[in-house]
Amino acid sequence: MDQSIKFDVDLINRYDKAGPRYTSYPTALELHEGFGDKEYRAHIAKSNAAGGPLSLYFHIPFCDTVCFYCACNKIVTKNRKHAEPYLANLCKEIALQGALFDSSRVVNQLHWGGGTPTFLSYEQMKTLMDVTREHFHLRDDDQGEYSIEVDPRETNDQTMKQLRELGFNRVSLGLQDFDPAVQKAVNRVQSEEQTFSVLAAARAEGFRSTNIDLIYGLPLQTVESFARTLDKILAVAPDRFSIFNYAHMPARFKTQRQINDVELPTPEVKLAILQRVGQRLTEAGYVYIGMDHFAKPDDELAVAQREGHLYRNFQGYSTHSDCDLVGLGITSIGRVGDAYIQNVKELDEYDRLINQGKLPVFKGVELDDDDKLRRAVITQLICHFDLSFAVIEKQFSINFADYFVRELQALVPMQADGLLVLSVEGIRVLSAGRLLIRNICMVFDKYLAQKQQQFSKVI
Ligand SMILES: C[S@@+](CC[C@H](N)C(=O)[O-])C[C@H]1O[C@@H](n2cnc3c(N)ncnc32)[C@H](O)[C@@H]1O
Ligand code: SF4
Repeated sequence: MDQSIKFDVDLINRYDKAGPRYTSYPTALELHEGFGDKEYRAHIAKSNAAGGPLSLYFHIPFCDTVCFYCACNKIVTKNRKHAEPYLANLCKEIALQGALFDSSRVVNQLHWGGGTPTFLSYEQMKTLMDVTREHFHLRDDDQGEYSIEVDPRETNDQTMKQLRELGFNRVSLGLQDFDPAVQKAVNRVQSEEQTFSVLAAARAEGFRSTNIDLIYGLPLQTVESFARTLDKILAVAPDRFSIFNYAHMPARFKTQRQINDVELPTPEVKLAILQRVGQRLTEAGYVYIGMDHFAKPDDELAVAQREGHLYRNFQGYSTHSDCDLVGLGITSIGRVGDAYIQNVKELDEYDRLINQGKLPVFKGVELDDDDKLRRAVITQLICHFDLSFAVIEKQFSINFADYFVRELQALVPMQADGLLVLSVEGIRVLSAGRLLIRNICMVFDKYLAQKQQQFSKVI
């Protein structure tokens, strides 16, 4: 398949509106409190009957210092002791949830995200992995995809060795930008030496995939400064890049108010940065996976995309569509069978429920037939940029043209703009439409109209 992108400033400006990132459909906004412990248990039982592997997501919310731009679910504290009661509850939750899932279900994918998982001491991390192994069927052949988000400012060679021993084989490093002025403006000072030594240690320890997180749109960034950051990282060639568009929503994220609005790059500069990123990474041999992600052509994300089995979940793009996703820890979102489930967001509420022996679920949604159909369409488009009507018709026993009359009409102007080709067989997204894939998916989102203003801008 053609994995190239075409950068058209005029088109991007015209289509620049807020939209979901479709890590799920329906999006997390549709989760409601009528779905709780009882409903989740029923879905787990149903999913056990169907069987299949599992993916586990653990949320470790703590960070040592705050980065002003941060929109993640985190708790900032210098006191490492704060992690202890949380970890004790997390272990209880692992036991509670582990008892509900059939023990024959192998954990093919595992991810620790945050916050900052490396906020934990080695002993704490070891306890967490040991307890998980006690209650879930973890793989011991290193063939699972076991990944962790690491903050290089608090990681060293020893940590990487320990993480590898615990069973991790993939790592994602937070960086954002190397420019000293930008780092100061966002309260995240991180040296090249720290970053590259962690990357080198990961490779030396045999981590199979390395990812670097960058953000464009941060204060004081220029096209040239960001290009310098990018070139420095390209010299060490990580397997993947996540290059996020800075989501500036100070009304929602208090610490973002410490960012001086006048220092933010203009929309034109942001676009120019993005254009340069696309060019540089393509020249360097990376392929554009979609949304914020680039990968080397032999990385499994790029391979999965070429082979047609890429998937999207709450952690972004993934190769494990067959897994039920179990969320553990505060704020975590899971997908089990045909339901999405979210845990409570506050530590005290988590503590209360766990210590009553309850699952700490506070929201969820069960998909109806229309949701499942639209999810299949959106997932196919956002992962593969190509949709065959026949495949969907067969899977859902519908006539695509009859079911999606309004949506197909809405795609006509996008075809005229060169974003895609509509034919009697299906929808093919063109190079110019790949950066605007969210806009194309939005056409199939029936919940969107009333929710538009709650999402970040597409580019
Ligand atoms: C949980 S953090 C990564 C791990 C670790 N806490 C660290 O910062 O090194 C996940 C990533 O989300 C991205 N991120 C956080 N806030 C963002 C925002 N407002 N807009 C875009 N990306 C953001 C950053 O790239 C960050 O590395
Ligand atoms: S970017 Fe990472 S380290 Fe910084 S505040 Fe967010 S979660 Fe914490």
